[in-house]
Amino acid sequence: MTVRHFLTLQDLTPAELRQIMQRGTELKAMHKAGEIFEPLKNQTLAMIFEKSSTRTRISFEAGMTQLGGHALFLSSNDTQLGRGEPIEDSARVISSMVDGIMIRTFGHDIVETFAKHSSVPVINALTDDYHPCQLLADMQTYQEHRGSIEGKTVTWVGDGNNMCHSYINAAAQYGFKLRIACPEGYDPNMDLVNANSDRVEIVRNTLDAAENSDLIVTDVWASMGQEEEQKLRERAFADYQVNKEVMDKADKEALFMHCLPAHRGEEVTADVIDAKDSVVWDEAENRLHAQKALLEFLMAKK
Ligand code: CP
Ligand code: NVA
Repeated sequence: MTVRHFLTLQDLTPAELRQIMQRGTELKAMHKAGEIFEPLKNQTLAMIFEKSSTRTRISFEAGMTQLGGHALFLSSNDTQLGRGEPIEDSARVISSMVDGIMIRTFGHDIVETFAKHSSVPVINALTDDYHPCQLLADMQTYQEHRGSIEGKTVTWVGDGNNMCHSYINAAAQYGFKLRIACPEGYDPNMDLVNANSDRVEIVRNTLDAAENSDLIVTDVWASMGQEEEQKLRERAFADYQVNKEVMDKADKEALFMHCLPAHRGEEVTADVIDAKDSVVWDEAENRLHAQKALLEFLMAKK
């Protein structure tokens, strides 16, 4: 049987993504009702972190516990990976002992190489290029608050980064229009934009990009690994802040999302992120349930 991986949203079909979204909402209701559901009993998820995390680590670890399994936190500093053991060898060894592997790392090629040499499913928990698990939670959150996102308009404000790339993939997979407001020099991968030109456009002006939008999304100006560019980026992104004026341009039912952690006063103002149309807390909580649906999909014995 071929092993399924989840390195980008494109590894699943739109129908499978819809199924996982619905299942995430169901698992959430079951959990809140106190129902015990353990399809991953005796299974282990190895979690390899080469970058920091709050939400991703907790949601995968708690998720595995809730599904009856176990999660193993592996910091690259404390494993031989951090001392140069080849990714290919690590993938063969780790996958021979666990049932699934989750990786947060730098280059996307690292998760691709890992998956190629792994005998169990590999999940991308953020690379420099993509953050697909966050999109599972974001899409579930939109659906729970406003119904289907199909045919809606989403505005991305800020850096053309890993989250932005996953929003481009999501536009194709979930069927929405995406306007990207980013400063010149911080564009997303233009091959990805061009490949999705029927749904995705770059709009330099933030207010124009937000006009009548159904969902406004942003992220930090300097991602993990770009800490030294913080000051430079603060100048470059000064006109790419989600503030009240931007939200007022959007549809009156528009939601605000941010994958977190957020910097109030930089990419978003406090009055926006702490307002009632901001669903960032549900978005964070849904990481748990969306990923449980993903883990069940990839790892439960059929
Ligand atoms: N949104 C997100 O992935 O958060 P963490 O970096 O805390 O995992
Ligand atoms: N773009 C951010 C997302 C953090 C969850 C980063 O890569 O640091």
